[in-house]
Amino acid sequence: MAAASSCSASLGLLLAAHCALLLALAGAASAGGGVALSSAFYDASCPGAHDVVRRVIQDARVSDPRIPASLVRLHFHDCFVNGCDGSLLLDDDLPAIQTEKNVVANNNSARGFPVVDDIKAALENACPGIVSCADILALAAEISVELAGGPRWGVLLGRRDGTTTNVESANNLPSPFDPLNVLQEKFRNVNLDDTDLVALQGAHTFGKVQCQFTRENCTAGQPEGALENLDEATPNLFDNKYYGNLLEGRAQLPSDQVMLSGPAAAATTAPIVHRFAGNQQDFFRNFAASMIKMGNISPLTGSDGEIRRNCRRVNGKGY
Ligand code: HEM
Ligand SMILES: *[C@@H]1O[C@H](CO)[C@@H](O)[C@H](O)[C@H]1NC(C)=O
Ligand SMILES: *[C@@H]1O[C@H](CO)[C@@H](O)[C@H](O)[C@H]1NC(C)=O
Repeated sequence: MAAASSCSASLGLLLAAHCALLLALAGAASAGGGVALSSAFYDASCPGAHDVVRRVIQDARVSDPRIPASLVRLHFHDCFVNGCDGSLLLDDDLPAIQTEKNVVANNNSARGFPVVDDIKAALENACPGIVSCADILALAAEISVELAGGPRWGVLLGRRDGTTTNVESANNLPSPFDPLNVLQEKFRNVNLDDTDLVALQGAHTFGKVQCQFTRENCTAGQPEGALENLDEATPNLFDNKYYGNLLEGRAQLPSDQVMLSGPAAAATTAPIVHRFAGNQQDFFRNFAASMIKMGNISPLTGSDGEIRRNCRRVNGKGY
């Protein structure tokens, strides 16, 4: 019922076939055991959750147009470490909690945490103790993509927040200098295949990159943190131009370009890059499906974990 209603809401933009796909995936999500995530999870307990998250992001992007991209990346860096459990959001609370925010992939790079705080505060005001920080990241990612002109999908909800961090795993997040086989392995480890890898890297259609991570590195005199657009063709739009950039050899990150021109790419990722470059609807459908898959990485459900009151701290003061 709720899956159907979130689907009909997107019918204005997308094909009916897309909705059938999302419903099929929502059904498949229950196969992993435990309690399945559901797009209807907050329908009774916090019916305004989606609108609250959307309003805060809309407000934030007036002064910070980059924020939608930054929020999408937070969901990725949360889900790849200990599953989608909000572990990325925890600040140092030593000795028990060593923050993931200081690892190489996040330090001076992951951003948007104050906006997550604002979303949490607004939700605690609307429905105290109900919406998890892990679900905030999943909702924020979808809304951010949609606001930038990308696809919509019915976000599956019901994740609970973890009470630990995993710095070792965060140190193993994909690196822009990883070769293709290592990227593929890191994705396979969380049940994401080559199509997911190519589709999800399509998120580099918006947002910024520090020149120190780009294929051309920084030019003389540029500080290593100088920002450039990830997609130089349409910097703030969520579209398939990113794949066109790859075809022109103009992707920013080495880890982008290896999907097309690395030695092993021809047999695996390159045909998918060509497909998405030639068909934006195909990319959008696959991106939505892959985001749902990524959002299903080892969620805590049922009575596991907790609903944090403050996304930066576990509840209670037991340490
Ligand atoms: C394949 C592995 C990936 C690698 C190696 C990678 C690497 C990077 C790097 C190095 C940056 C720039 C960070 C900086 O300069 O501070 C970046 C930015 C970004 N990444 Fe990825 N990424 C990967 C996959 C993904 C995925 C799966 C998503 C989301 C679905 C994503 C979304 C983004 C976004 C939106 C930005 C811009 C963030 C902003 O402007 O704040 N990336 N990525
Ligand atoms: C994070 O960046 C800051 C300042 O840019 C630096 O001083 C600090 O050492 C870095 N932290 C880690 C763990 O590398
Ligand atoms: C980029 O250039 C800086 C400064 O020359 C250098 O220290 C760094 O190792 C370079 N990075 C890469 C990935 O080559």
